[in-house]
Amino acid sequence: MVLSSNGGDVYDWAKAVKEFDKAKSGVKGLVDAGVTELPRLFVHPAEHLQSNPMDPALQPQLPTIDFEGLQRGGEGRREVVEGIRKASEEWGFFRIINHGVPSETMDAMLEGVRRFHEQPAAEKMPLYSDDSRRRVRFNSNSALRENDSASWRDILTCVFNDDHIDPDLIPHACRQEVQEYVKQMIRLRETMAELMSEALGLPSDYLSNIECMKSEAMACLYYPVCPEPQKTLGTPKHSDTTFLTLLMQDAIGGLQILHGGQWVNVPPVPGALIANIGDLMQIISNDKFISVEHRVVAQPVGPRISVACFFSPSMSATAKPFGPIKELLSDENPAIYREFMFRDYCHYYKIKGQDVPSALPHYKI
Ligand code: OGA
Ligand code: NI
Repeated sequence: MVLSSNGGDVYDWAKAVKEFDKAKSGVKGLVDAGVTELPRLFVHPAEHLQSNPMDPALQPQLPTIDFEGLQRGGEGRREVVEGIRKASEEWGFFRIINHGVPSETMDAMLEGVRRFHEQPAAEKMPLYSDDSRRRVRFNSNSALRENDSASWRDILTCVFNDDHIDPDLIPHACRQEVQEYVKQMIRLRETMAELMSEALGLPSDYLSNIECMKSEAMACLYYPVCPEPQKTLGTPKHSDTTFLTLLMQDAIGGLQILHGGQWVNVPPVPGALIANIGDLMQIISNDKFISVEHRVVAQPVGPRISVACFFSPSMSATAKPFGPIKELLSDENPAIYREFMFRDYCHYYKIKGQDVPSALPHYKI
């Protein structure tokens, strides 16, 4: 214990992290233990907590892309592609409706995630780990650097390499649901790869051929009710590091994206999914598509459940160079980023810490 000059306790960050990790029961464990005050580890500095003074009803609305147009072919498809192009350039985020993922599969997945997180802590403890080599792991706030604030959520992560995972590794509480849901995500990924290739002005099979979205990491997030939501965050401000993210959120809300210098709410729409551009897509599109910062505010209600499916390159592509797509470059549009290996990119992310918000500047020419 660290003593202040008057003999009272002062906050010892390292000790707080150690104790929190030792319990292996995450934020849900704190809630179950009956905390009524936010533990100091979770208190964020005021500059993390700034919100938008604008009335939510007057905030700009996230674009919605209706995949129903794809059924009509021809002009319908062109409209969808044009909508994706505009939203990816201006927002980096869009909502998708009529995407073909059955609502039963989505609801079952949210319920499975809830079941996992609401099991007795002892069931989850063996999975508690920060080791990114583990295909399935449960944790809360991994990779904190000294004095970083923790956030009010727990995560179950399942990693599919080249679309594959050993099913026995997936916790029983949500095994079937995860397997069904990932099948739908893989199907939608194929559609997205075609549409985004076209939106970049490339042949439909371009992104699929470079295998940049062949693996998935699924983050099954659980944001417990927070006793003092105005002092912390559910997920701190970040941009996604991979190519594309497909996100499902339940009806609670709390997701915000940085648009036009302001935090804009992304209210839940039943049955909709959210797609967002990741840092790697911004790089290969040479800044045509943008990877935008977002966060989740903590709430006095909940739990909030969301599932983020992050798409990244095939394992066989780890030693292949990635960089701005040559076909997009010209004298007027020279490469902004240099080429790099995906494995070096992963390594850079591991070592850079939260203070460096994005890897993009590191790869600029
Ligand atoms: C993420 C993320 C948002 C959410 O996990 O990268 O942005 O709604 N999640 O949980
Ligand atoms: Ni994110």
